[in-house]
Amino acid sequence: MSINRIRLGVNIDHVATVRNARGGFYPDPVSAALLAQKAGADGITAHLREDRRHIKDSDIERLMAEISIPLNFEMAATDEMLAIAIRLKPASACIVPEKREELTTEGGLDVVGNYENLKGFIAKLNNAGVSVSLFIDPDLAQIKASKELGADKIELHTGSYVDASGEERMVELERLRAGAKYSNEIDLEVHAGHGLNYETVRDVAAIKQFTEFNIGHFLIGEAIMVGLENTIIKMRQLMDEGRENC
Ligand code: PXP
Repeated sequence: MSINRIRLGVNIDHVATVRNARGGFYPDPVSAALLAQKAGADGITAHLREDRRHIKDSDIERLMAEISIPLNFEMAATDEMLAIAIRLKPASACIVPEKREELTTEGGLDVVGNYENLKGFIAKLNNAGVSVSLFIDPDLAQIKASKELGADKIELHTGSYVDASGEERMVELERLRAGAKYSNEIDLEVHAGHGLNYETVRDVAAIKQFTEFNIGHFLIGEAIMVGLENTIIKMRQLMDEGRENC
């Protein structure tokens, strides 16, 4: 295996989204994490949002107890999340911006604008032995500030690249390339994620400084598209078997 192999972190938030649609226990995001682990995932990512719209506190506790690959705990920079991270000590905490009304994490954290607040916050996580990652846009000033603040790593938001097309997508890819190169120069581990799919992942994977991708929505969506046919065939079979007994 190449020494440049990129780690794959699987985000299981949307398994919880589907589970919560019925308020029960199925499908279970922790079982999905164990499946991801079995399939070769290098880590699991889960975002405990303030409104608990998908992942719940008990999911995080069970993930910590049941998976053997590292948990990347996505969290907003709030006192509540800080207390949870310090208590549970996940392998890493990825600090993301969070707005209550957004559908997903819409952009990177403004590290430059929140420099003073983040300083103490990151220090508390580091003191608790939790490695800190900052989810930021591929912007050189944000990358520099992240390094100065003592983050171990950053994750560059790939959303603008994924959403763009044609010439504009090339411009966004170049921003990712420049951001990854600069991070490497200042000795900051650099990851990427958001919206990556089969169409977009290769060009980002060709940027050699990236060491990890975190991918969720597409994987869970594609799992439905790949698995639905067999699932329907099995249900048909069981219905027919039941009817044979009447
Ligand atoms: N990385 C971070 C920091 C995220 O917030 C998300 C979305 O929750 C992802 C990666 C995964 O993005 P997607 O679900 O679009 O693949």
